[in-house]
Amino acid sequence: MAPQIPLLPTDVPPPLDPEQITVLSEEVRDLARQRDAIILAHNYEVPEIQDVADFIGDSLGLARKGAATDSSVIAFCGVHFMAETSSILSPEKQVLIPDLAAGCSLADSINADQLRDWKAKYPGAIVVMYVNTSAEVKAETDYCCTSSNAVKVVKHIWEEHGPDTEILFGPDMWLGAFVERATGLKDDPERHGRFHIWDGECHVHAGIRPDDITRTREDNPEAEFLIHPECGCSTQAMEYVASGDIDPEGVHMLSTSGMIEHVEQNPEQSYVVATENGMLYPIRKAVPKANLIEANRMAFCKYMKMITLPKLRDSLRDMKYEVRVDEDIAEKALLPIERMVSIG
Ligand code: 13P
Ligand code: SF4
Repeated sequence: MAPQIPLLPTDVPPPLDPEQITVLSEEVRDLARQRDAIILAHNYEVPEIQDVADFIGDSLGLARKGAATDSSVIAFCGVHFMAETSSILSPEKQVLIPDLAAGCSLADSINADQLRDWKAKYPGAIVVMYVNTSAEVKAETDYCCTSSNAVKVVKHIWEEHGPDTEILFGPDMWLGAFVERATGLKDDPERHGRFHIWDGECHVHAGIRPDDITRTREDNPEAEFLIHPECGCSTQAMEYVASGDIDPEGVHMLSTSGMIEHVEQNPEQSYVVATENGMLYPIRKAVPKANLIEANRMAFCKYMKMITLPKLRDSLRDMKYEVRVDEDIAEKALLPIERMVSIG
């Protein structure tokens, strides 16, 4: 039987033609001026949203930019937990998301009740949660982290609270496995037993499997690997490095914006990009000469692609949909987010 060719998802809005993009982009920019709004866009957003935005970045960069802006309105082109984080950091600003259904499968993998039950099993443990979580989960958390600072956050906790501190890390198991390896915890059986990982994952990154790495390595022996720590292949890539099978120089675990910074340093190289494929657009824009190869062409986050120019235009025109977090929850969730931002 012939191998099955995977199909790209069909439940995404149809592409806009160039003329529509020009007209809508002008409308959006005009409305943003009238509304005193800054437009923030994540690196995975569709190209026309990135092109119309004031600032494009990874989740940490967007959280920082939202907090630092003087604009009274933030039009957040990303997923819901990111807009919530912005609102928690800037309760005096009006945070808008163009589509309330833009969620995140990873954030959905743990809720506040589940986290409370987990904490009850390990009294006294410190909770580190990836920023891809709801505000309610953050309110039960001691430290948030992102892909770019997870290792730093865990090391900081050991420095502050002692190397034997019990830690609950979630919700992404691949990022947790990455932290275990990057900190050497994997080779320290006693302390390893005090680092607990929630078994959540992002459906997009979990789908980038070790086979994708093996295949693309064979097809592109000269290419470097840029791997988001959420990927299902990241553990294997680190094992290859540990066993000396691949040169550590060629493998880089990076946040989405970290990937752009890395490619800028060596602009004419080939890179296999193991993350959501929207990432190729901002890298290509920043470094046109780089040869970029998708690790898995199916790596597609339908939630990020729900944000379109017509919805962004409607959002700024009608001041919808406002993301505001309940005051009590926001107050509790602020501390772990501030810790994350200050650790950098
Ligand atoms: P970054 O923090 O690297 O932007 O990742 C966020 C995310 O949702 C990845 O899927
Ligand atoms: Fe969430 Fe995964 Fe989409 Fe990132 S790529 S927003 S983790 S579902």
